[in-house]
Amino acid sequence: MDHHHAANAPGLDAYWMPFTANRQFKAAPRMLASAKGMHYTATDGRSVLDGTAGLWCVNAGHGRQAIASAVERQLTTLDFAPSFQMGHQAAFDFAERLAAIAPGGPEAGLDRVFFTGSGSESVDTALKIALAYQRAIGQGTRTKLIGRERGYHGVGFGGISVGGLVNNRRVFPLLPGVDHLRHTHDLERNAFSKGLPAHGADLADDLERLVALHGAETIAACIVEPVAGSTGVLLPPTGYLERLRAICDRHGILLIFDEVITGFGRLGTPFAADYFGVVPDLVTTAKGLTNGTLPMGAVFCKRAVHDALMHGPEAVIELFHGYTYSGHPVACAAGLATLDIYAAEGLLTRGADLAEDWAGAMHDLRGAQHVIDIRTIGLVAGIELAPRPGAPGARAYDVFVDCFERGLLVRVTGDIVALSPPLIVERDQIDTMASILGDAIARAA
Ligand SMILES: Cc1ncc(COP(=O)(O)O)c(C=O)c1O
Repeated sequence: MDHHHAANAPGLDAYWMPFTANRQFKAAPRMLASAKGMHYTATDGRSVLDGTAGLWCVNAGHGRQAIASAVERQLTTLDFAPSFQMGHQAAFDFAERLAAIAPGGPEAGLDRVFFTGSGSESVDTALKIALAYQRAIGQGTRTKLIGRERGYHGVGFGGISVGGLVNNRRVFPLLPGVDHLRHTHDLERNAFSKGLPAHGADLADDLERLVALHGAETIAACIVEPVAGSTGVLLPPTGYLERLRAICDRHGILLIFDEVITGFGRLGTPFAADYFGVVPDLVTTAKGLTNGTLPMGAVFCKRAVHDALMHGPEAVIELFHGYTYSGHPVACAAGLATLDIYAAEGLLTRGADLAEDWAGAMHDLRGAQHVIDIRTIGLVAGIELAPRPGAPGARAYDVFVDCFERGLLVRVTGDIVALSPPLIVERDQIDTMASILGDAIARAA
């Protein structure tokens, strides 16, 4: 074995960083020291405008005192409580408050809430609930799960199985009985669409094809991101989600929306289900649930799905699933304070007021060198660059580093630059983001 080690900066070796080119990073670290409002401060003292709400999660901006105070109160009152066969008030309160703003509004009935510790756990939880539900209603042959190419559903084995990003999948064994819809990205027909792309609703018919291939009676659920985020911001073609809903209804397949990114105001509505007027059976969330302050996820379930499992002897656990940190009191306290801020500042719908300016600023980058598509919805943007020949991802990575050095945090997947600022962003900050990004793209080789 070769025991040669890279000459890293001292003190950086032990931490194995997630989803990071560790050796490249440690050779030239980008370190954040503090954050307030719309800005990070880097360790060299530079102010960096947060174009990504951290990692699509700090929707109310950084350093919110009300959240910090609520967390401190909870930590010094009840720091932890077991959630198996025991309860504490914060979890019940938080679930009630979430049920009141549940995706699709009160008529949708997505008002039963299962708590998890992250988006990945929310996804695995939703997939398991779907399987348990089908069995409970006498449809136990429905064990297959349908995902979509380019989907990102976290990194649990369930999530990578229904997910569609090859790098997250290729090294690992996957769940059996999983199939995928085609993705909806179509540069040829839809590049530079303003609003939803016009072409591709028929791609939802892939689900009809999979039904014809596998038999409806073998399929439990279909999971999609209403707007695919991590793969580089792919918007659903007009009519696509409606069509998927109709096919699921026709064949008794549960529809799961993964709203880990789109939940809590990202599109200018509380949830994507509200934006599109399409009601799924289960909705996975995390991130903005606590403003990113503490790890937590929540799965919204249709009451009918929940109730189907509330049968059998009352002394028997209905769903053999849960986490040590399900309904963690401190995370619940952070979440409750977060919901208060969202409500007081109208943040769950603020994106709707800014969406037009946001789209305008981003679409102004059209015509810049290398830019082959621009996609926006709510307060999200994806700017797709032509890859540098022979070096996929390198161009966008250079743009990312350049932006950071000039005071803007963006996110990059492949050759797509993604932006998703905190929902407190001001119009002049939108212009600053577009300007720094535009300059970086103009400089990119
Ligand atoms: C749609 C979607 N699902 C699931 C996840 C996984 O969430 P986590 O990283 O909290 O496990 C993410 C994270 O970006 C996501 O975007």
